[in-house]
Amino acid sequence: MNTDTLESLKEVALSAFAEAKSIEALRVEEVKFLGRKSEFNQFLKSLASLSPEERRLVGGRANEVKREILDAFEAARIRLESAGFDAEKEWVDVTDPGEKLPVGHLHILTRVEREICDIFRSLGFAIADGPEVETEFYNFDALNIPADHPARDMQDTFWLHQKSGSKERSVVNKKSPRLLLRTHTSPVQVRYMETHTPPFRIIVPGRIFRSEATDASHEHTFYQFESLFVDTDVSVGNFKYVAELFFSRFFGKHISVRLRPSYFPFVEPGFEFDIACTMCDGAGCSSCHGTGWLEVGGAGMVNQKVFEAAGYERDRWKGFAWGFGTNRLAMMKYKIPDIRLFQGGDLRFLNQF
Ligand code: PHE
Repeated sequence: MNTDTLESLKEVALSAFAEAKSIEALRVEEVKFLGRKSEFNQFLKSLASLSPEERRLVGGRANEVKREILDAFEAARIRLESAGFDAEKEWVDVTDPGEKLPVGHLHILTRVEREICDIFRSLGFAIADGPEVETEFYNFDALNIPADHPARDMQDTFWLHQKSGSKERSVVNKKSPRLLLRTHTSPVQVRYMETHTPPFRIIVPGRIFRSEATDASHEHTFYQFESLFVDTDVSVGNFKYVAELFFSRFFGKHISVRLRPSYFPFVEPGFEFDIACTMCDGAGCSSCHGTGWLEVGGAGMVNQKVFEAAGYERDRWKGFAWGFGTNRLAMMKYKIPDIRLFQGGDLRFLNQF
């Protein structure tokens, strides 16, 4: 080998680098001309067999050629890498405000539910929970509503079909094989008492279901709050006090509570309770049909039969229980005219809250 070979090798390498169309192609050429097994490397190795004089001459030139090949490679690399960058397209205005992502928010019912929980928590109530698919026993029997009693008809019920002999049947509470969608939150009274000993005070927020024809004030799926307060010495007066305190905090002004005798099999005596109309403060207006009162829920002293169903000794404890509709309270506070709006999915409604 001589310096001619060296020069022609350089020419070939330089034009190969200059013509490479992509970084990948350039890398292939790099191995070919500069790699360990390249012709150029073989050439450098062969210098060892030359006389010292020749070696100095050819070797010096070989180093220069290597430098030129490396420079040509570097130039080609920069050319190919910058070719992939289109300044016009890649330009970013870092001062441009970002695109706003839509952020969701809590449903009005969730917010009201949390608001109610906060007030009760501040009064020392614990929060309890129960299943939406309930057994006939907890929803009716344990609450002193026997199968053949007309009181069952007060709550139209969604019953669940169960195939006889199927696996589902064996998981059902032995006391009652029939399942339904709970018609109120009252079954949680018994469930809670089965595992707790008085004194205690709880609230039970939850979703309930009734097989009802819907209109502006009736829904098949809605929300309730149950409240249960059990101790040795509890009276209707305690209930009235707690109720007035709660509603006054919820509406942010003093609210009077009125009791009217009524019948619920799981309380004795039982009441329906009203609050002073939040629109006219009791003076009488179109919202309260001129009566000055708005009907809110049911209440009463816990029937001893319910304590017995939960496994308590008869006449050992006293307690009050009450239940009211969360939707209804939200409607009063936020002046919502139709209960169906809550689950209608209309964003024009939901986004107002
Ligand atoms: N569970 C009753 C209903 O849904 C309300 C209620 C609760 C009544 C507690 C009395 C005591 O109609």
